[in-house]
Amino acid sequence: MIKNIVILGATSGISQAVAKQMLADDVCLHLVARDMAKLDIVASDLKSRGCADVVCYQLDFNELEQHAAVVQDIVNKAGVIDTLFVCYGLMHPQSECETDVAKALEQVHSNYTSVVSLLVLFSQAMQKQNAGTIAVVSSVAGDRGRKSNYIYGSAKAGLTTFLEGLRYQLYAKGINVLTIKPGFVDSPMTAHLKKGALWTSTDAVAGYIVKAINKNKSVIYTPPFWFLIMTIIKIIPAFIFRKLNF
Ligand SMILES: NC(=O)c1ccc[n+]([C@@H]2O[C@H](COP(=O)([O-])OP(=O)(O)OC[C@H]3O[C@@H](n4cnc5c(N)ncnc54)[C@H](OP(=O)(O)O)[C@@H]3O)[C@@H](O)[C@H]2O)c1
Repeated sequence: MIKNIVILGATSGISQAVAKQMLADDVCLHLVARDMAKLDIVASDLKSRGCADVVCYQLDFNELEQHAAVVQDIVNKAGVIDTLFVCYGLMHPQSECETDVAKALEQVHSNYTSVVSLLVLFSQAMQKQNAGTIAVVSSVAGDRGRKSNYIYGSAKAGLTTFLEGLRYQLYAKGINVLTIKPGFVDSPMTAHLKKGALWTSTDAVAGYIVKAINKNKSVIYTPPFWFLIMTIIKIIPAFIFRKLNF
């Protein structure tokens, strides 16, 4: 039986690493991205690595009115979706979002509203299958509001809460919902940032993600040491937290 894997945000650094690790003879990859030129390069690379079955779809995730038609097209072509992997987003500098409402809202729209729209559509279709996995990349940034990234973080916090509820709802339908919370990942999104000891490669993060999908996990921090870091960050009292500059 062919396994259908749908990747929303297939040109992202993390998605490309995940796709490479999910390749197998019996896999059909359905790749969705807004930039078809970039997506063609990604698809050719995956085919050269031995994936015969790759289908590409164009979608700007911010264009909500296009969602239903593209989701229907994917469902029609795939039939059954074994894994839906959602991995896209936007991170404008927080300082720019603080003074530019359009940028702040674009950040929330890309990281939260558009994902909700797509997940409502996909979960309706997948419920009928009574099986499958929905794996979505959120972030450790959603675990606590911080001065330096609370606009991006609030969108990820909303997404994490949405995913928790969706997990409980779809449990009875046999669908697993996995929330992925990466820490610092060296990808195009963070290319401008100085790297340090806590940084991880996209390949390493992909390894944790693929393992968690295969083991039907609910929530993972990637790498796992971020669970400890965020547990400490969450218990710092507000009167200390407000003095910290991060
Ligand atoms: N890197 C990190 O440190 C880190 C940490 C925690 C969580 N994450 C999350 O990981 C996910 C993937 O990010 P990444 O690190 O792999 O960075 P990335 O390579 O920059 O990926 C971001 C992807 O989002 C796509 N995208 C953004 N807005 C879109 C839109 N409106 N329509 C279609 N595609 C859109 C981009 O498409 P284009 O290729 O066309 O630009 C790109 O493929 C994001 O959800 C991010 O928030 C990243």
